[in-house]
Amino acid sequence: MKLLATNNSAIEQAVNLLNQGLLVAFPTETVYGLGADASNPKAVARIFTAKSRPANHPLIVHIADSACLSDWAEEIPDAALKLAERFWPGPLAIILNKKSHVPLAVTGGQQTVGLRVPNHPVALQLLREFGGGIAAPSANRFCRISPTQAQHVAEELGDAVDLILDGGACQIGVESTIVDLSAATPRLLRHGQITALQIQEALQTELIIPDSLKHPQSEEIRAPGMMAVHYAPQTTTLLCPAERLQNVIDRLIAENKKIGVMTYQSVITETGKIKVLRMPEAVDTYAQYMYASLRELDHQQFDMIVVEQPPATEAWRAINDRLNKATVAYL
Ligand code: TXA
Ligand code: MG
Repeated sequence: MKLLATNNSAIEQAVNLLNQGLLVAFPTETVYGLGADASNPKAVARIFTAKSRPANHPLIVHIADSACLSDWAEEIPDAALKLAERFWPGPLAIILNKKSHVPLAVTGGQQTVGLRVPNHPVALQLLREFGGGIAAPSANRFCRISPTQAQHVAEELGDAVDLILDGGACQIGVESTIVDLSAATPRLLRHGQITALQIQEALQTELIIPDSLKHPQSEEIRAPGMMAVHYAPQTTTLLCPAERLQNVIDRLIAENKKIGVMTYQSVITETGKIKVLRMPEAVDTYAQYMYASLRELDHQQFDMIVVEQPPATEAWRAINDRLNKATVAYL
């Protein structure tokens, strides 16, 4: 594995590796991606091996601009053009019916393909100089915390990745919003910085939000096993409403646990047993540091991590979604 500060020669090396069917991790505005030539099924297979990701989980194909949509998608509905015009380059992935040449290895065996133009100068230069689509999931091992810095990718993947382009810390910090436009009615598949309301406003039509994405903004600490573990630290992580935070911490300390706490507003006193990481109160900055903060606490051998639940409002939806998925247990 090589980690390179991004300059023209690093991009050139990255393009050569992609052309050889090898893996290049690169920065985007959301999280780092683990990229391979999307038209090369063998290269794409390497992504699944590197991440230990099940083969039926489809990948997003990154493209340089919306003119490339027709290289990958069979029909391009007006809705796709509207969203591309409004939000690309940016943190939105669109699912469309795929062209027949798009490898099933990319789409997890489905007839649809996910497409996104990332808003990051390094990603865009790489895409332009490579000249094709780059299939790239987040550059973490399956179900682990997404990387928002080049160093995180090195920690996650080591020699499983051939080159890491270092473009600094990601600006947004949370994966893209995903909208499925492959059927008659648009459907939200993943929350992100671009909200469902913004999508609805841009489309001027109804957007289906599946029940699975309408998880309750919990008022309680959730019981074990209610959600799939995803984006998760290896340390058991609790999500806790502000009003119960001190109480939960007191109980854990009474049980002689050593804990890391990620606060949002509450003031918690640090002791030998409690380390506090205070998060920013502004939603965008919170998102930017969220994964790096979880990762930092996860490295410190705590018995448990406790995260103070941020506000349950629409603006915080993507953050709450990721935090819900990162937390499983309950006292
Ligand atoms: O912000 C992002 O989207 C980042 C950066 C690297 O671009 N990528 C990312 O990729 O988050 P990944 O693989 O971690 O998540 C992609 C999501 C998966 O949940 C996958 O199921 C969904 O996109 N997806 C991709 N293609 C799809 C398709 N054809 N149909 C349904 N879902 C699809
Ligand atoms: Mg991911």
